[in-house]
Amino acid sequence: MGNWLEFWANNETNWHSDVVTQELEKYLGLLKLESGDTVFVPLCGKSLDMIYMLNRGFSVIGVEVSEIGIKQFFHENGLDFTISQVGEFDLYSAKNIEIYCGDFFSLTSKHLCGVKAVFDRKSLIALDRNLRQKYVKHLNDIISLGVRILLITLHYPKHQMSGPPFSVDKSEVESLFSMAFNYQELKPFQDIENGLKLARSGVDYIENAAYCLQKVRE
Ligand SMILES: C[S@@+](CC[C@H](N)C(=O)[O-])C[C@H]1O[C@@H](n2cnc3c(N)ncnc32)[C@H](O)[C@@H]1O
Repeated sequence: MGNWLEFWANNETNWHSDVVTQELEKYLGLLKLESGDTVFVPLCGKSLDMIYMLNRGFSVIGVEVSEIGIKQFFHENGLDFTISQVGEFDLYSAKNIEIYCGDFFSLTSKHLCGVKAVFDRKSLIALDRNLRQKYVKHLNDIISLGVRILLITLHYPKHQMSGPPFSVDKSEVESLFSMAFNYQELKPFQDIENGLKLARSGVDYIENAAYCLQKVRE
């Protein structure tokens, strides 16, 4: 996690987007949420997608290891917040949003009480292969049966770049989630902003994908 803290400290957050993720706008309906429902955003950074969900009438729970990132999120969006201690986490709270500052792998189902859906953009793909398996296993352990996940991934020729972001293709998504989830692959899409950033890293192609998954087995 040390690298991530350094990225934040050095303001090297080029994964951050100043616009809401289009696939969230497009596919939020697939999560079948009702007004007031809570969405969990793992490894949330200072994503504006959280603001989008708040504006749509949902509550948000995030987890992020960087205090800098969390503070920037609240300051840049003009949200007054309080900080409290919950076990090993500092919990940053504002109206309808709570962000746990600490390690995703230390979260338990108690922290995610009432969560109805998960939005994962650049979280799974932020982790190397071993951590991705651990991440999905842990996510599965802490969410309830029936919870849906909107997952955004990308893949590119692995030998051309080491990541992050890491290349995660459809067969890996299948093998990671098949033990407990049903899944639907959504239409592949172009992500011009990220495409340009990655093209500069010398990869020949990038394919973006989105999946709607649902936990159907314990
Ligand atoms: C690539 S960024 C994506 C952030 C966000 N999902 C977005 O779309 O902008 C990955 C984030 O995960 C955070 N992170 C990495 N490992 C973590 C962990 N084990 N627990 C909590 N946060 C973590 C990093 O600090 C970083 O902000």
